[in-house]
Amino acid sequence: TFSTQIEIQLPNNSDETQTTTQFTRPTFLMCAPGWYELKYVINPWMAGNIAKSVRDTAFQQWNRLYEALRSLGDVRLLRAKEGSPDMTFVAHGAVVNYGVAALSSFAHYQRTAEEDYLEAWFEDAGFIVWKSEGLPLEGEGDALFSPDGNHLWAAHGSRTSLQSHRRLGNIWHVDVTSLHLVDPRFYHLDLCFTPLSGGHVLYYPGAFDRRSLRKIEDAYSPNNRIALSEVEAVQFACNVINVGDQVLMHTAGSAASRIRSAGYEVSEFPLGEFVKGGGAAKSLALRLSDVSVTHRHPSQ
Ligand code: ARG
Repeated sequence: TFSTQIEIQLPNNSDETQTTTQFTRPTFLMCAPGWYELKYVINPWMAGNIAKSVRDTAFQQWNRLYEALRSLGDVRLLRAKEGSPDMTFVAHGAVVNYGVAALSSFAHYQRTAEEDYLEAWFEDAGFIVWKSEGLPLEGEGDALFSPDGNHLWAAHGSRTSLQSHRRLGNIWHVDVTSLHLVDPRFYHLDLCFTPLSGGHVLYYPGAFDRRSLRKIEDAYSPNNRIALSEVEAVQFACNVINVGDQVLMHTAGSAASRIRSAGYEVSEFPLGEFVKGGGAAKSLALRLSDVSVTHRHPSQ
């Protein structure tokens, strides 16, 4: 087994130690599309796609991604729940680091039923669970750590509230850079921004306001920026799973070769059934191991 129980001290109550789960290999949580369907519209991609997803195809697509991720680490499974058709996009349920799971508080009532279910899962799995108590916050959809785990990038403007950013920073005692999303098609940060293990950033500049863009470009030198075009970004080419030097992504044309040129091995999977719902590879897998474990780059 690749997980152990460890004692940690949370920054907020520094005398008290708590027990939590620590993984020594890259570990993710996935949820098969058992009840996946397009029943409502909570993002622009879902419009026009009501009842148009094909569950058998979704299963096949999901399964290929699952097998590929299992070859890179461990994948835990969350059982899909009737009445929560978006639950397969499990990355939005929490953001995890150092054994602390910050649970989401979904902006749309259609997804709130996922919250208690995830809370129970994280408690059973031995995590320290933190709740945002009513401040809208959508997990890794809008909060992504730098590969060393010392910095958090968080978005607001669509699903996640700006006020939640500071609370997130306090959990792990990390600096948070707040980014403002301005294009409704890119309603989550994971659709337009991904810090990669080798020190690169994959992003779509058009999704951000000028100040936010400046923050990104101050943090990453031009050589380390992989700026996607609109055509690439609307294929969800930023929504990638990165483990070490491996990148798993939706088949999205020209972006893959640009990521390869930066030194990554890219595997592409057709995920069209999930694109109809407004997400792709990254949204289907929630990171459980520490970001520094998941992102250890072979060249480092
Ligand atoms: N239907 C889901 C929602 O709108 C899709 C989420 C996928 N999103 C993403 N950021 N990759 O909440």
